[in-house]
Amino acid sequence: MRIDVVTIFPEFFQVLDVSLLGKARQRELVDARVHHLRDWTSDVHGTVDDAPFGGGAGMVMKPDVWGRALDDVLETGAHLVLPSPAGVPFTQAMAAELATEPQLVFACGRYEGIDARVPQHYADAGFRVSEVSLGDYVLNGGEVAAYAMIEAITRLLPGFMGNAQSIVEESHSDGLLEYPSYTRPASWRGLEVPDVLLSGHHGKVAQWRHEQQLERTRERRPDLLPPEA
Ligand code: ADE
Repeated sequence: MRIDVVTIFPEFFQVLDVSLLGKARQRELVDARVHHLRDWTSDVHGTVDDAPFGGGAGMVMKPDVWGRALDDVLETGAHLVLPSPAGVPFTQAMAAELATEPQLVFACGRYEGIDARVPQHYADAGFRVSEVSLGDYVLNGGEVAAYAMIEAITRLLPGFMGNAQSIVEESHSDGLLEYPSYTRPASWRGLEVPDVLLSGHHGKVAQWRHEQQLERTRERRPDLLPPEA
């Protein structure tokens, strides 16, 4: 999979070199490229933003600069992703969908966002375009959100994970939160591992884990459960 990131903070994405994602890049499972938006500016100051039409606080990122950058970076069939607190919520299902795309281009906005004609233009031009929010809070820009999405997406690529079963069993893959996990020692600071996990009875373990998933989800994320009949 090809991933391009356009940002005014390319150094932030040194994070792409480390951990499992770094290894996936070495193995050429992921071809990730980071671009400095200012390379597409046309004035000596490298201006990327301007005051909003209609007034108000903050600055808006200029469509002409973004247009030149994205014209160069987007290839046929690419999916353009704009992290934004005003986007649709990012979910595990969306991560799975995006993991099937040939090229993802993340356009990281700062300040009050990118001129709204930019996503409109590329959607009109036939690209898939998604404005996506990491959650109901505001970050300083799209960089952290883009990295979180890249991590959630790339770990779903075939061959990325050593243990494919751990993807099948984790939180959200079946719409529920994951069950609690324990390892040795069986007794720690007066706290005991639930007996059923030491029983060696696979059927009972599976049933207990499913009950724990339901209980956790009811307590922490009731919004994930279907409405009761
Ligand atoms: N940029 C700023 N806040 C954001 C959020 N919550 N999600 C995605 N991008 C953002």
